[in-house]
Amino acid sequence: MTDGRIVVDGRPVEFEAGDSIAIAVVRAGEVPGRGGALCLAGDCGNCLATVDGVAYVRTCQVAARPGTVIERHPAVGKPPLPTVDLRDLARVPAAVEISVNRLRTDVAIIGGGRSGSAAAREAEAAGRDVFVLDGRDGNEVAGLKSPLAMAPLGTYTGWNVTKAGPFKGQLCGDVPTGGFIPFAKTKAERTASGDPRLSLEERYRTHDGYVKAVTTAANSLVQDGLLLRHDADTMIAQAEKSDILN
Ligand code: FES
Repeated sequence: MTDGRIVVDGRPVEFEAGDSIAIAVVRAGEVPGRGGALCLAGDCGNCLATVDGVAYVRTCQVAARPGTVIERHPAVGKPPLPTVDLRDLARVPAAVEISVNRLRTDVAIIGGGRSGSAAAREAEAAGRDVFVLDGRDGNEVAGLKSPLAMAPLGTYTGWNVTKAGPFKGQLCGDVPTGGFIPFAKTKAERTASGDPRLSLEERYRTHDGYVKAVTTAANSLVQDGLLLRHDADTMIAQAEKSDILN
């Protein structure tokens, strides 16, 4: 259902209620930046575009509103950095209406390894609220996560390494890149390869366990108003059809 139109490179693009600019553009079968949208969490910068005249805006973090004008950055050459107009400082930023879920806790522990877990147990025993941020998988631990990141199949990176040629082994630069390093299927496989990340079997046990994890993640985002029901149903159906742990 259309809730309005934004203008992308001079053409109208429809959006639905709750869409960010990036999501509206992706829904239309295009990409907001020159390399696609990767994290949808404001972390990678792949979705940069000029929004209402301001360059380098992360379009995945800005709500689509009727009449917003988006110009994709040119493939060659970069637009000038926005200048700060002191008179603008009193203006209410566009993103101020985006709701943010905040978690309050007595103790935030970075890392769920042996010492982090021990510290968490100690704080819990002392009656404190504890939240552990564990990035052992190499995935983001903060921000708004998609079901893909909430029920991960590997490590999703905002970088990649050049495979061949004179820059082989070096980080890909200048072009937006991302990478995926899959989890081993079983504990035996990961132990043999020295992979410290839990295997798929250790995480989900069975195919049904994986589907359940995706379902729980998608439904929680729907409940929080962060994901459309039909998008959640598509993700759950894709998980059911997948061969993960089958
Ligand atoms: S897709 Fe917007 S910052 Fe990564």
